[in-house]
Amino acid sequence: MPFNPANVIARKRDGAALSRAEIADFIDGFTKGSIPDYQMSALAMAIYLRGMSADETALLTEQMLASGVTMQWDGVAACVDKHSTGGIGDKVSLLLAPLLACCGLRVPMISGRGLGPTGGTLDKLESIPGFRTDLSLAEIDEMTNRVGCVITGASTEIAPADRKLYALRDVTATVASIPLITASIMSKKLAEGLDALVLDVKVGSGAFMKTVDAASELARSLVETGTRMGVKTTALLSDMSQPLGKMAGNAIEVDEAVAALAGDTADDLIHLTNTLGAELLVASGIATTIEEGRQRLQQHIESGRGLEKFREMVSAQGGDLDTHRPIAPATVAEATRAGFVSAIDVEALGYEVIHLGGGRRVMSDSIDHSVGIETLVAIGDRVERGQPLARVFASSQNTGRAGAAIASHFTVQDESVSTPPLIIDRISDLP
Ligand code: URA
Repeated sequence: MPFNPANVIARKRDGAALSRAEIADFIDGFTKGSIPDYQMSALAMAIYLRGMSADETALLTEQMLASGVTMQWDGVAACVDKHSTGGIGDKVSLLLAPLLACCGLRVPMISGRGLGPTGGTLDKLESIPGFRTDLSLAEIDEMTNRVGCVITGASTEIAPADRKLYALRDVTATVASIPLITASIMSKKLAEGLDALVLDVKVGSGAFMKTVDAASELARSLVETGTRMGVKTTALLSDMSQPLGKMAGNAIEVDEAVAALAGDTADDLIHLTNTLGAELLVASGIATTIEEGRQRLQQHIESGRGLEKFREMVSAQGGDLDTHRPIAPATVAEATRAGFVSAIDVEALGYEVIHLGGGRRVMSDSIDHSVGIETLVAIGDRVERGQPLARVFASSQNTGRAGAAIASHFTVQDESVSTPPLIIDRISDLP
């Protein structure tokens, strides 16, 4: 029977499992334009409502990957990467790419922009004057081989099917589907030609996935798909019930990353960075245990080599770390009562950063890199009335309302609460 897209949509609508040929013909036709957006949107909605088996999800990922190029590396050094599902204050990539490069790995990191309340690695890096996030495939190849790492946006040759499909999902209420998220994330990451991948799946008030169950389901789907496609894949579930590190914004996050690489900053950020990195060192055979992997990465912080490598990457990508990055004037958000910090509405803090101008409401918005929020307390801390909970870096027209609004996102109560664990679970088929 000749291929008919409407039959494929109808079969998925009725809950059937799609075959390799059906998925391949559909994605190929959509990428080339012979299948129109309305049929792809209908299939996306059928997948959203009916789900996909692990087999179908892997086939969809494979076909979206095959819509573009896959990078090739010689066998001298392993090629690795990390992907985060997104959080507030998540600047791990800025530390991890250079630290892994210091260990002799190749890291051609393809990153994204802010999505909803979560910040984007590319937006943060663009606060560095001159930094380019639009590297061509040839530049990614040359710089990764020479420096060891790059952090850039997806070029048009990488998984073009995802670029087209993501734009449709955004306007057809089909973003929050585990098979579609899996195929979207993994097609772009696997196009880097990876040997090993670690996924940081965030859980909590500032994460896409609010519960451990939902995050575990996504993590299992990502790990299973990566493993089926021959990449050593591990996921860590990590806490996003409070911001990671202290800074949430753009220039202030780069400053915090530089301070962390200089050995001077928040323990949670370093611990998560080193644990994610250690997974990749073990998967690549560079370390035999996670603890040994963490120590190797920590040594590159203590010796200053990690910071040197970050500078080398920034300069290869056209940026100048020594040119002043303006930071907006600071005010404080104060506690309105004494007690213990029991919860932080991290998603609301993410939207406050957008409100200050540090993120986008629509894709065409420009970003004010100078604004952001520094969280000064953590869950479990005792605070006094009038004590600063956060420092707010804002332009003058926003300073008035920002302090009180931001303080309202911190819950302070009489009873003490314990600090939530940073790493909640590990999901992998690897030992
Ligand atoms: N990030 C992606 O790249 N794709 C999704 O579908 C969701 C998050």
